[in-house]
Amino acid sequence: MEKHVKRIGVLTSGGDAPGMNAAVRAVVRAATNRGIGCVGIRRGWNGLINSDFVQMNASSVSHIINKGGTILYTARSLEFMDESGRAKALATCRLLGLDGIVAIGGDGTFRGALALSRQAAEAGMSLRVVGIPATIDNDIGCSHYTIGFDTACNTAIECVDKLRDTMQSHERCSVVEVMGRHAGYLALYVGIAVGATAVLIPEREVDFERDIAEKIRRARLAGTTHYMVVVAEGAGSAMEISGRIHQELGIDPRVTVLGHIQRGGSPTARDRETASRMGYEAVKVLAEGEGNQIIGIQNGFITDIDMETALAMTKNFQMDRYQILEALTNSQGGDF
Ligand code: F6P
Repeated sequence: MEKHVKRIGVLTSGGDAPGMNAAVRAVVRAATNRGIGCVGIRRGWNGLINSDFVQMNASSVSHIINKGGTILYTARSLEFMDESGRAKALATCRLLGLDGIVAIGGDGTFRGALALSRQAAEAGMSLRVVGIPATIDNDIGCSHYTIGFDTACNTAIECVDKLRDTMQSHERCSVVEVMGRHAGYLALYVGIAVGATAVLIPEREVDFERDIAEKIRRARLAGTTHYMVVVAEGAGSAMEISGRIHQELGIDPRVTVLGHIQRGGSPTARDRETASRMGYEAVKVLAEGEGNQIIGIQNGFITDIDMETALAMTKNFQMDRYQILEALTNSQGGDF
């Protein structure tokens, strides 16, 4: 195997996340700086299968650090899950002379990357892969933080703050559903940051009486006339929770499902800075002859973890934060 990579393919895959562009920029600029060629693979792994690519240089990534979405487009590729799809992808790698891939995305993206690199090794090809965690769900085991999470939190907070105005005027209850797939990080952080009346997360079994009814009653007794319930999509449906609140507490809530608005927007400072550091590190790993790593952040420091080990890691949910939320929601004042 050649020690140093000569040409890197960079792609974004899975659900988009604000800051993906900043990561693409960092990869391209860091590679250029080291004299390594760079090709943008479009539409995730499908781009490798279909030879859908664009040559990149330092100026192709000008003015994208502040942009949401991904200039490379993204997709979830079913074909890439099959060996035959990956064989087509390897043919594209050969055609383009790629010996390194930086895959920006989530868990599924990294599993695909590992499978590709193993298939390449079996075929006698030198192809190193590196993963950069980017998802608004913050659900990657090997990293305390994933690109996009901070922006998504801030977007959700801005929306909830707006809802608060109208809920306050009408003395209503709002039930807001946030994304996160099977993880409750978005709901937890948003719940703390907006001072929610109650927050439901999938990491904790929901007890309607304890987690919602009691909290609303307590807030009502303390003089609150409007309530904010934040529901992680993985913990239940906001519509159903609202129905139950109506039925059991005689309140008529208004439901807002924030949905994909949380995936858009200009990335925050944290997401731009993290993406730039991770992109730089991914290229450094490849340039130094390493591969099959996932870049992460542990206690604020950048880490490189072997991909197989990283994919087996699970994240300990931040129950300490949940306790903070509990303490603050259990002692409501006259307002949320
Ligand atoms: O993984 C990111 C995410 O936005 C999840 O929070 C959500 O469950 C899912 O993607 C939505 O996927 P899609 O964009 O395919 O509707």
